[in-house]
Amino acid sequence: MMRVTVSQIKDMKSRGEKIAMVTAYDYATAKLVDEAGMPMILVGDSLGMVVLGYASTIPVTMDEMIHHTKAVVRGTRDALVIGDMPFMTYHTSIPDALRNAARFIQEGGAHAIKLEGGEPVADTVRRLVQCGIPVVGHIGLTPQSIHQLGGFKVQGKSREAAQQLLRDARALEEAGAFAIVLESVPAALSRLITERAAIPTIGIGGGPYCDGQVQVISDILGLFTDFVPKHAKRYATVADTIKNVASTYISEVRSGAFPTEKQSYSIDESTLAGL
Ligand code: KIV
Repeated sequence: MMRVTVSQIKDMKSRGEKIAMVTAYDYATAKLVDEAGMPMILVGDSLGMVVLGYASTIPVTMDEMIHHTKAVVRGTRDALVIGDMPFMTYHTSIPDALRNAARFIQEGGAHAIKLEGGEPVADTVRRLVQCGIPVVGHIGLTPQSIHQLGGFKVQGKSREAAQQLLRDARALEEAGAFAIVLESVPAALSRLITERAAIPTIGIGGGPYCDGQVQVISDILGLFTDFVPKHAKRYATVADTIKNVASTYISEVRSGAFPTEKQSYSIDESTLAGL
C-alpha cells in the first residue's frame, strides 16, 4: 500500500466509506496502528494529558509535539499523519501559524496539521492550504479553550450555538480544510453538519452520523484511567495488564524466580578458570 492521501480521505466520504482515525504519540504504537490499516493517525495535543500528565492540553509546546510527531512518523508506512497545533501557536499571526505548521511538515515529517476553531481561524486555514499544507479543522468542544468553555461540556446545544457550528464548518470548508473534527456535538447536529459539508466530518463524541470517528488511543486501550469520557469506548484494559505484569515481575525478582537460565547468557566455564 502507498501512503494515504488527502484526496483519498475525501473520496471515502463520496463513497460513503467510514473513516477510522486514532491518536498516537510514539513509534511502537504508531507502527501497530499503521499495520492494522488505520488510514489517519493524529498526533493529538491530548499528548499533554494522556502521556505527559498535564491537567489540560494548554501547556503543550511545539517542541514536545515535534518530538512525538517524529516518533509517530517513523512508525508509519501507510497512514496519513496529522500534527496537532498547540495552544497559541496559530493565533498570534498568520506568519506564526505558517512557521509552526511548517515545523510539523519539515521537522516532524507530518503530512497535515489540525487546528481548533471555526470562523475565527478560517483566514489562517486558507493561507496554510495556499502554502500547500493540508488542514483538518476542529470544532465543538475545543479543549484549548477549556477556560472559556468552563469545562469539558457538550457544545452546540442552543439554537444559536448550533447555527454557529454550522457556520464554523462552512467557513472551514470554504477555507480549504480537507476534514473537520466534531468533538462533543449532539448527534443530530453532527448529522446536519455532515450532510451539508462536502468534506468528511470526523466525530469524537459526535455520534454515529459523522463520516468518520477519531478516538484517543489511550482511551480505547483502557490505558489512561484518570477519567474516561462518555464518548470513549474501551476495547481493552491495558492499565490492568500493565499493573499485573509489574506486580508479578516485582515478586519474581524478589523471590528469584526471574531470571531463569532462559533469560541468561552462558560462557564456557574454562574461560573464567583462575581469574
Ligand atoms: O488532541 C487530540 O487528541 C484531539 C482529538 C481528541 C481529536 O484533538
